[in-house]
Amino acid sequence: MTRIVVIHGPNLNLLGTREPEIYGTTTLAEIDDALQAQAAAAGVELETMQSNSEGEIVTRIQEARGRCDGILMNPGAYAHTSVAIRDAIDAVALPLVEVHLTNVHRREEFRHKLVIAGASVGQVLGFGPASYTLGLDALLGHLGIKTWRKG
Ligand code: DQA
Repeated sequence: MTRIVVIHGPNLNLLGTREPEIYGTTTLAEIDDALQAQAAAAGVELETMQSNSEGEIVTRIQEARGRCDGILMNPGAYAHTSVAIRDAIDAVALPLVEVHLTNVHRREEFRHKLVIAGASVGQVLGFGPASYTLGLDALLGHLGIKTWRKG
């Protein structure tokens, strides 16, 4: 069975109460529930993790090799800084879809640089929690799993 790992980076455990005017009021548990329902409907297995630590994220990516078929990740602030996470993605050679709740290109200049994105299949930014569900749909499509029906 196809298996996807969803990785949430630093501070995303605070979603729901963290700067709601920017990130909204949906919690991380609600996002994970929506992704689990989407995965079940598509007949794929999905595991989720959140970490505030760069090293833990690198380790989880390494562990995905041979176990998982793709990675959906919101790296949080590490998206702008982490060469280590970028290298881990290149090392495991698994398809990555990067997502962000906000459109980082409309925000502060320091958020415009995305250092992991160059190792991804693509990115979904700016749609709030829907960035995740759109991103999962895109990742499954990339893996050849059809999530929509014609007619
Ligand atoms: C974020 C955008 C990042 O710049 C920020 O550091 C986050 C959240 C987003 O989902 O919009 O933690 O990844």
